[in-house]
Amino acid sequence: MDLQRVYIQNNPGKLVFGPRSVNQLADEIPADAVPLVITDRGISQSGILKRVTGVLDGAGIRHHIFHGIEPDPPIGAIEKAAAVYRKNRCTMVIGVGGGSSIDGAKSVSLMVSHRGDISEYSRGKAVPGPVAPIYAIPTTAGTGSEVTGVSVITDPVKKVKMVLRGAPHLIPKCAFLDPELLVSLPPRVAAETGGDALTHAVESYVSQNSTVVTEGLALSAITLIGRYLRRFVGNPADMEAAEHMQLGCYLAGFAFSNAGVGLVHSMAHPVGAHYHLSHGAACSLYLPVVMEYNILTCPEKYASIAAALGEDVSGMTTRCAAKMSVKAVRDLFTDVGLALTFRELGVKFKLLPRMVAEAMAAVPTQANPRRPSDAEVSNLFNTPMVK
Ligand SMILES: [Fe+2]
Repeated sequence: MDLQRVYIQNNPGKLVFGPRSVNQLADEIPADAVPLVITDRGISQSGILKRVTGVLDGAGIRHHIFHGIEPDPPIGAIEKAAAVYRKNRCTMVIGVGGGSSIDGAKSVSLMVSHRGDISEYSRGKAVPGPVAPIYAIPTTAGTGSEVTGVSVITDPVKKVKMVLRGAPHLIPKCAFLDPELLVSLPPRVAAETGGDALTHAVESYVSQNSTVVTEGLALSAITLIGRYLRRFVGNPADMEAAEHMQLGCYLAGFAFSNAGVGLVHSMAHPVGAHYHLSHGAACSLYLPVVMEYNILTCPEKYASIAAALGEDVSGMTTRCAAKMSVKAVRDLFTDVGLALTFRELGVKFKLLPRMVAEAMAAVPTQANPRRPSDAEVSNLFNTPMVK
C-alpha cells in the first residue's frame, strides 16, 4: 500500500444470505417496480427461475423474463434484452444465474439508462450516472459479479471480450446468496468457478493497488475457498460448503473490485475468447504459473497465501513458504479435477503473438506485482503445455 496515494473504496449494496434467503426477494423490491428477470435457458428449465418468479408472483410484483443469455454474453443478446426491457416499460433488472446472467443484467441496465455505444465503456469511458437498479441472484459460487461494478460481455465479430468498468453505478443494489440454489450445480462448473474466485482472491491480494482492507478481504476469501472448494465440488448440496464458498467468492469479488486483478486475468481473457475456454478454466490454467512468476516481488504475501491455504509453513524461510502457495494451488486444482495443462485441454497455440499483445495491453497487467515483458508473457502462455 502506497502511503503517498489517495485510495477510493467502492462498497457493495445490501447482502441477504443463507438458506432460502431468496424468499425475501420481494421484501427488497418496491411494490410498484417492474423487474426484467435476466437469465439463461438452463436456469429457466432447472426450476431455479420458478423459485424466483414464484416469490415475485406471491407478492403480486408484475415482471418479465429474458432467458436468452449465453456464456460470455454477446452484445447482440444484451441488445435483445434491452428491447424487451423498453417494450415492457420495466424499471429494474434481476440477474439470475452465473456471472454471465448477472453481467448481462448490468449491461442491460447500462444500455437502457444511458445513450451511446456500450462498447465505449470498455475503452475507459466513465458511466455518467445512476442506472436502473440491479439485483443479483447467483447460482454459482465464483465470479463475484454480485458485488462488483464490472460487466464482461463479448463482441463475437471481433472475438474480443469487453470489460465494462462501471463502479460504483454498476454495483448491484442488492445481492442474494442462497446456497439452496447451488444444489444441482455440475461439479465441473463448481470447480471452474471456484478456480476463478481463488484467482480473484490471490490476484487482488498481491495487486499493486491492494490496501489493508482489500488484503483482509482477499485473505479471508483464500482461507474459505481453500477450506471448502473440495467439499463443494464433491457435493454441491453440502449446504455448509456451498454457503462458505458463496461467502468466499463474495469477499474475493469485494476485494478485486477495489484492488483489481492481475496477469492471470490478462492472459485468461484472450485464451477464453480465442479457444472458447470458460473463464474459470482459463484462470485456473494460469494461476499457479503466474504465482510462480510473481513470487520474487512479494514472497511475504505468497507465504501468507500458503498459510491461508492450510500449508504448514512453520520453520520455513519466507521463500520456501512462498513456493508452498504454488504447490497448494496445484494440489487443490488437481483434486477438484481442473485441467492444468493444455495437452489435457486439447488446444494448440496458433495465435500466440496476438494473445501476448492483448495480455500486455489489458488493464489488469498494470496492477500485477511483477512487470512482464512480451517474451515472458509468451513463455507463461506456453508453460502449461510442458508441465
Ligand atoms: Fe475472473
